[in-house]
Amino acid sequence: MKISVIGCGYLGAVHAAAMAKLGHDVVGIDVDAGKIAQLSDGRPPFFEPGLPEILSSALASGRLRFSTDIAEVAGSRVHFVAVGTPQRDGSNAADMTYVDSAVDALLPHLAPGDIVVGKSTVPVGSAARLAGVIDESGSGAVLAWNPEFLREGFAVLDTMSPDRLVYGVASGDDTAVAALNEVYATAIAAGTPVVVTDFATAELVKVAANAFLATKISFINAMAEIAEVTGADVTQLADALGFDNRIGRRFLNAGVGFGGGCLPKDIRAFTARAEELGRGESVAFLKEVDQINLRRRQRVVDLTVHALGSVVNEKKVAVLGLAFKPHSDDVRDSPALDVAVQLRGLGANVIATDPQAIENSRARHPQIAYSADIAETLRDADAVVLVTEWPEFAGIDPVWAAGLVRNPTIIDGRNKLDAAAWRAAGWTYHGLGRP
Ligand code: UGA
Repeated sequence: MKISVIGCGYLGAVHAAAMAKLGHDVVGIDVDAGKIAQLSDGRPPFFEPGLPEILSSALASGRLRFSTDIAEVAGSRVHFVAVGTPQRDGSNAADMTYVDSAVDALLPHLAPGDIVVGKSTVPVGSAARLAGVIDESGSGAVLAWNPEFLREGFAVLDTMSPDRLVYGVASGDDTAVAALNEVYATAIAAGTPVVVTDFATAELVKVAANAFLATKISFINAMAEIAEVTGADVTQLADALGFDNRIGRRFLNAGVGFGGGCLPKDIRAFTARAEELGRGESVAFLKEVDQINLRRRQRVVDLTVHALGSVVNEKKVAVLGLAFKPHSDDVRDSPALDVAVQLRGLGANVIATDPQAIENSRARHPQIAYSADIAETLRDADAVVLVTEWPEFAGIDPVWAAGLVRNPTIIDGRNKLDAAAWRAAGWTYHGLGRP
């Protein structure tokens, strides 16, 4: 099938490459000429495992091309809108500017029978409004809403083999359902469940899923706060809770909390939208979820300051991790980078390392010193803080590391280290919600 993908950021670039890999004929459109040049060259503008490989093979097959010219969408049957909906400046609400402009830009190029498919995470009610815009254009195209659930670091896998497919369509719109079934034929043949629903439900599935995941993380982080005043161990608590299949162990890792370009802004946008709808109280708990999450960053900073004997100025703090999670170079709302910035702000001589996120961090925070080398980062440190659980950091030999630092104190902001092994190697170990 001929497909266009509008917006070649994280979501769009992966989607375009994956759709071409599945055998579709795909054109990816973006207003950023630099990004288009890189993608056309087979070089993703961000780090995502597996993406360079599928991008190269899709480009070589001739089924994938990229352009800045929106007119090139003409002839495609399905047009995916995959632009960003960041947090609006000075507000918790989502910024719909990019989605609105993408749809406006598409209108002159749509033909009868075309399907415009929204993938961006939007405030509930947006799809109905955009369906009206498309309808009034007289193009003969229709809208469907098909939210995306991919995780950074696993984006290719999640796009090729999703847990579920959700189609929000106008009542009785079998054409859009048939077109999407054709797009996702491979995943459907492999048994992926498909939920066909209305626009509002499809939009809500996405924000509700992210709100639930954020709540689950903040729940266990709230338990970590209680563990800290009772001497309980939150990691054992999570294991024991997780054996209950109704609860499940995933997303129960207590630590410095969630970040990234999705969970934080999505819970805020959901709260803002619910307030607009007069139902603010229904999701008021998400404000608490946000607060618990932000408190955990502060806790890591406080533990570090305490470990330094409350004299931070000029002390060397080694920060292990900058990305918001491992296998990503994304530092948007990253708890790890936030901790590094706060400690630098307090006067510490911060040196930070990360396997992928140094460049993005330096661009935002040049005041921090960065090193690609773990040994150099640790050398002569007065305290070490682990804030992104890259396997490279989780696998550090505590005996080797003790020989490098000035003061063997570690704050394990992801509860990833073997506390007994680190203590046996002479370290003062502090976890989050762990004795
Ligand atoms: C999230 C959702 O998981 C995806 O399903 C969704 O498609 C995506 O947002 C989106 O809306 O586009 P992502 O932001 O890639 O995906 O990252 P997650 O794997 O959800 O992790 C988010 C944050 O939670 C990270 O900072 C991670 O370190 C933290 N986290 C995760 C915890 O602190 N504890 C956990 O137990 C799990």
